[in-house]
Amino acid sequence: MTNKNGKKSNEDTGLDANLNAYLKDNADGQLEELMEWLRIPSVSTQAKYREDMVRAAQWLGDRLETAGLENIEIIETQNHPLVYGDWLHAGANRPTVLLYGHYDVQPPDPEEKWNTPPFEPSVRDNNLYARGATDDKGQLFLLVKALQALMDTRGKLPVNIKFIAEGDEESGGPALETYVKLNGEKLAADICLVSDTEIVSPDQPSLIYGLRGLWGCEVVVRGPKGDLHSGMYGGVIHNPAQALAELIAAMHHGDGRIAVPGFYDDVADLDPAEREKLAESPQDDAVFLEETGVPALYGEPGFTPVERIGARPTLEVNGMWGGFINEGFKTVIPAEARVKISCRLVSNQDPDKIARLFTEYVTQIAPPTVSVEVIPLFGIRAVSVDPDSPAMRAAGRAYEKGFGAAPVFKREGGGIPIVLAFREVLDAQVVFLGFGLPDDNAHAPNEKIHLPNFYRGIRTVIHFLDELATGKG
Ligand code: BES
Ligand code: MN
Ligand code: MN
Repeated sequence: MTNKNGKKSNEDTGLDANLNAYLKDNADGQLEELMEWLRIPSVSTQAKYREDMVRAAQWLGDRLETAGLENIEIIETQNHPLVYGDWLHAGANRPTVLLYGHYDVQPPDPEEKWNTPPFEPSVRDNNLYARGATDDKGQLFLLVKALQALMDTRGKLPVNIKFIAEGDEESGGPALETYVKLNGEKLAADICLVSDTEIVSPDQPSLIYGLRGLWGCEVVVRGPKGDLHSGMYGGVIHNPAQALAELIAAMHHGDGRIAVPGFYDDVADLDPAEREKLAESPQDDAVFLEETGVPALYGEPGFTPVERIGARPTLEVNGMWGGFINEGFKTVIPAEARVKISCRLVSNQDPDKIARLFTEYVTQIAPPTVSVEVIPLFGIRAVSVDPDSPAMRAAGRAYEKGFGAAPVFKREGGGIPIVLAFREVLDAQVVFLGFGLPDDNAHAPNEKIHLPNFYRGIRTVIHFLDELATGKG
């Protein structure tokens, strides 16, 4: 169905002939442009990329202008700039849609695991490889190209458009949230389109109606005043790395349930009708085994994988360290050991309450032989949206046209911090229109975007805006 350039993925999806011809003619140019943007290393979490962040924001602002948007602004913040643009000439009887994505990317490390360098985009087998290809520059850029295609062929857009991009999503920074709270009027919208999620497979789109929340912390276990010779002191003091391992082990029961008392108190039960809908997903045990390469799956008993990812909380070790890990051998008892932990939260779980329960539990089980400190990092609540709103139904029809298959419903496991503010401050209907894939290697080496998804994404966004303009429920 697709050739090496991903061109055939630009199949006619029922758009008018002009638009169809335009998208075919411009496919190569769109790809070249995206590659240019991906060459700018817009890593938000490391100071050495600060100037690159500014360049990436300006680059996007220029593209919004070329696309025909107006009132383009690069907005300075405490942290990285925001990028804004709008086009508000569709008329008062047409809805206003706020488009969102983030131009910051994760750090590229471990760089030696990349087949081609992270900031030298490269096309192989219908995929474009680069840091940010899918999360989220590729998905953000396709929104711009959808708008441009409409402007270039029709000279106007079917709905009123506001566009906002941030550079602090991956760092959990508050710049956009602060801006949204201060500029509710300016950003006011009926619908908010978030393009920063994934679908199940290239031929199976999914409609997302929930994202999990997140609470993260670092735990420090401290023992002796300084590192000690393990021969001279081994046997008389509790090794902090061992004590940490014991603490971590006590965070789960043997069957995979989280052992922190009260952790599940505010988790809503899944109702049978919802379980039935989720069961329609093709993502069964075999799919997860294949995707991840593990010898066996793990997790809370009594729930399927899609239920555990979308509707159940977790507690994960993101990294643990302490003592000697360099080449060779060194017999030492480290003075301290540390772990970074993140908990994915669902339904009514409150990050502050989870912080309290976790800290109380760790403090209570900590042995008297070491001292333990819990340093909270940040928290966001889970968010869910009505799976049957008019905007969601429009998204369903758009996916079906763009991908030739009706979407399955899904609750997603990842989080996008700003979404809550979009809903609560702007009172907008949030719709996730994402085009990543589970094997896109987001946050990992060899991140990619599947080119057919990129091109179908542009078409799906156009269909979605057209659907919203007709106002059908
Ligand atoms: N795009 C992801 C969120 C996501 C991942 C949505 C997978 C759907 C499927 C986003 O960029 C992200 O990585 N979010 C972080 C949270 C942030 C505060 C660090 C996450 O979920 O870990
Ligand atoms: Mn993202
Ligand atoms: Mn991300």
